[in-house]
Amino acid sequence: MRCDVITLFPEMIAPIVGSSILKRAQDKGLLEVRVHDLREYALDKHKVADDVPYGGGAGMVMKAEPILRAVEEIQSNYEQKGERIRLLFPSPQGRPFTQDDARNLAGDSRRLVILCGHYEGVDERVRLALRPEEISVGDYVLTGGELAALILIDAAARLVPGVLGDPESSVEESFSESLLEYPHYTRPAEVRGMAVPEVLLSGHHEAIRIWRRKEALRMTYQRRPDLLRDRVLNREDRQLLDDIIREGVSATPVRCGEEG
Ligand code: ADE
Repeated sequence: MRCDVITLFPEMIAPIVGSSILKRAQDKGLLEVRVHDLREYALDKHKVADDVPYGGGAGMVMKAEPILRAVEEIQSNYEQKGERIRLLFPSPQGRPFTQDDARNLAGDSRRLVILCGHYEGVDERVRLALRPEEISVGDYVLTGGELAALILIDAAARLVPGVLGDPESSVEESFSESLLEYPHYTRPAEVRGMAVPEVLLSGHHEAIRIWRRKEALRMTYQRRPDLLRDRVLNREDRQLLDDIIREGVSATPVRCGEEG
């Protein structure tokens, strides 16, 4: 997966893409992130990339020309090498970002050029001229598009084959098949009087699989029933869900000395 981030704040991108799994993905050549400082594309000697809004009002608006120049230059550089770009614009007005979008970005062979807005907004002529794909990462307003851009990169990069160590881990996890995750436990077996469910210590693989499936269904039923609404359940899931409903949903945390 190859991305270019256009931003007024390059220093916001580097620490995140330079850490942990995203760093490892880049070291392995599975992810490439290039950061472009928008100020470099400003026309005047002071490198001004924003200005007051026409019509008055508070805040500053990002100027159109530096952004258009940045996108055009990046696009033409890639096109000369026979590569195509896909222009993304994180914005609260965009379509909601989903796991399907993450999968789609991860599998796209084009350069993902992510344009980060800031301040009160971006001159409307950027939208009119470039027609970027607008994507929202949630119904709230961030101070700028950088954190949203990082969310897109992070969610997509982890789905690129080889980025996560275990080839099964991204498949099994939450949302890959629209279920929330089952609870996880690690050592020690008891923490402040709270025990690990007995079945996880049993070594019985099939029982563990069923327990995890049931807890994933329970978590989803409790917290995001909308995810189950249009789902066609197989026999096992139907049975587990019936059991969960019969049990009254909540799986109380296991305290030491109680039944698992
Ligand atoms: N920029 C500011 N808020 C945003 C949001 N919720 N999603 C994407 N980009 C944004």
